[in-house]
This record gives sequence, C-alpha cells and structure tokens, in this order.
Amino acid sequence: MVTGGAGFIGSTLADKLIEEGHELVIVDNLFSGKKDYIPSEAKFYHLDIVKDDLSAVFEKEKPEYVFHLAAQIDVRKAVADPNFDVSVNILGGLNVLQNVHKYNVKKIIFSSTGGAVYGEADIIPTPENYPATPLSPYGIDKLCFENYLKYYHQVFKQEYTSLRFANVYGPKQYKGGEAGVVAIFCSQLANDSALSLNGDGTQTRDFVYVDDVVEALIKAMTVDFNGEINIGSSVESEVKDIIKHIENYSQKKCIVTEKPAVKGEQQRSFLDSSLAKKVLDWEAKVSLEEGIKATYKWTLDNNK
Ligand SMILES: NC(=O)c1ccc[n+]([C@@H]2O[C@H](COP(=O)([O-])OP(=O)(O)OC[C@H]3O[C@@H](n4cnc5c(N)ncnc54)[C@H](O)[C@@H]3O)[C@@H](O)[C@H]2O)c1
Repeated sequence: MVTGGAGFIGSTLADKLIEEGHELVIVDNLFSGKKDYIPSEAKFYHLDIVKDDLSAVFEKEKPEYVFHLAAQIDVRKAVADPNFDVSVNILGGLNVLQNVHKYNVKKIIFSSTGGAVYGEADIIPTPENYPATPLSPYGIDKLCFENYLKYYHQVFKQEYTSLRFANVYGPKQYKGGEAGVVAIFCSQLANDSALSLNGDGTQTRDFVYVDDVVEALIKAMTVDFNGEINIGSSVESEVKDIIKHIENYSQKKCIVTEKPAVKGEQQRSFLDSSLAKKVLDWEAKVSLEEGIKATYKWTLDNNK
C-alpha cells in the first residue's frame, strides 16, 4: 500500500512498484495529488487518512508493506495553520499506523524530512543523531510521528524505517510543495517568466532526484533496520546552481527577480547520507545537472 500514491513521490514509487511486479493499493484524497498520476494497474481508494475509516481497506486488501507518504507538505501552510498540519501529519498518520499494527503489516516505511527535522544545524553535513530541534510545525509533526513509530516498535514490535528525505525534485512535483524550487524555476522558464529567487541564491540545499528516493524507499522495504535514515544527494548545492543548470540545458538566459530572503529560512541544509550507504547499500546516482535536464524536459513536454 502506498498512502499519498497520487502525489509527486508516491506516484513515482507506485510506477516502480508496478514495474517490479508488486500488487499495489493506493490511498489518497487527491488534496495535492492527481488522479492521472495513479498507474492503471493499481487499486485506488479515494480516502482521507484523517477522516475516513481505513480499516475496511486494510481488512480487504491485507497489505504486506505500507509506504506512508500522504501528508500536508507545505511548510508555510503548516505555519499558517498548525492545527491542520497536526491533523494530517500526526492524526492521519496514527490512523494509518493503528491499522498497520492491527492488520499485522510486516513493515511501515515512513517519508520523513531531513530538511525540516534538524532545525538550524551547526553540524553540516547533518547526521541522524544530531539533536533534532525542528523550527517549523511541519518539522515538529514529522518528528512527533517518528516518535510514535519508535513507540510502536518498542512496545508492539512493529517493524518500521523512517527515511528523512533532503529536498526531493523531479518530474510531477507539486509546485506549492516543501521543496518546489526546481519545479517552480522550470515552470517559470518554460512559461518565459522571470525566475523568482528568494534571497541572493547562495543558500545551500541537498537536492536529491526522485528516482533515487524511490530506490531508497524500495530498499527500505526489506531491510532489517528500525530507525531513521537520511536520504540526500551527498552534494551541497547553492540555489543559484539550479539557474545555471537550467540555462545550460534550455539555452535560454533566465531573468531573475530577487526577492528578500524568507524570514527564518535556513542558510544551509545538507544531510550526511552515509548511514543509507551502510544500511541500505544506497547512494544517490543522479547528478543535479542530469536531474534538472529531466525535470525541465518533463515540464516542457507536459505544458506545466
Ligand atoms: N518533496 C520533498 O522534497 C519532500 C521532502 C521531505 C519529505 N517529503 C515527504 O514525502 C512525502 C510525499 O511528498 P510529495 O513531495 O510527493 O508531496 P505531494 O503533495 O505530491 O504528495 C502528498 C500526497 O498525499 C496526499 N494527501 C494529502 N493529505 C491527505 C489525506 N488527508 N488523506 C489522503 N491523502 C492525502 C496528496 O493528495 C498527495 O497525493 C510526504 O510525506 C512529504 O512530507 C517530501
């Protein structure tokens, strides 16, 4: 089962699981996901993980593994309406987790955030054992749900792995999302608009391509490890590097409108992903240059 399987990462994961021959059930309320992203081979339940009773789906489908990706992912929305973030990212998650436990699911794989749980870290690249002090309701709620996973593991022996993604990008990304800067720039350039840059572009991020993230999720399914793992690119990039790569590939000169830096935005965010190598035998393969090419091409081909 993939919750959030109509979304950017969830639908890319769904395609891969189908390609590998798995039977797949998707649960999504299409809040930000799109119905046409759902592979036709998957069974789709149009349900809200917060309000709807999921037990009938678990009872009927008896999933062996659950990838929990359904979430409210907009950090600014979480600041404006923390109650809503709590309802989806904690209470909705608990609804999934209680069913996972009740119906003896072998393992739950959770999509957490390495970009938001650590806060303004002074150890860079930041390892998993850095004391997490999230500076946003979104980060707080993701960390809180990780604690529920730990509790279910300790008390009920529920198997889980939590993957803390860096800034994921690639085709199909929702432009209002947590880390939509690549999607936003590709769309602005494809529509011949100026690129809106917050700050001077020297802030750094760890941009990891969606296919690499999907590979990590699938590896996490069968590995015997209960805990948190960073999933990043192992390269620290400046936001302005994106502009350089888009210009190179598109052969267009970007017009950039600089806006003041967003208050409270981190200047550096870069994850230490060495545990992923050890535990999952995983490391990112797609360079920022290649990933941006694929994303910009998809944006043009799909008129986004
Ligand atoms: N994109 C990133 O850079 C990034 C980074 C770190 C973590 N994550 C996590 O990865 C996961 C997937 O993110 P994404 O970028 O694909 O976002 P997305 O918005 O494209 O996908 C989220 C999906 O969840 C669905 N959803 C939302 N609320 C729901 C509800 N109440 N019931 C059922 N479905 C619901 C949406 O319709 C959507 O299909 C999320 O858990 C997110 O927090 C993403």
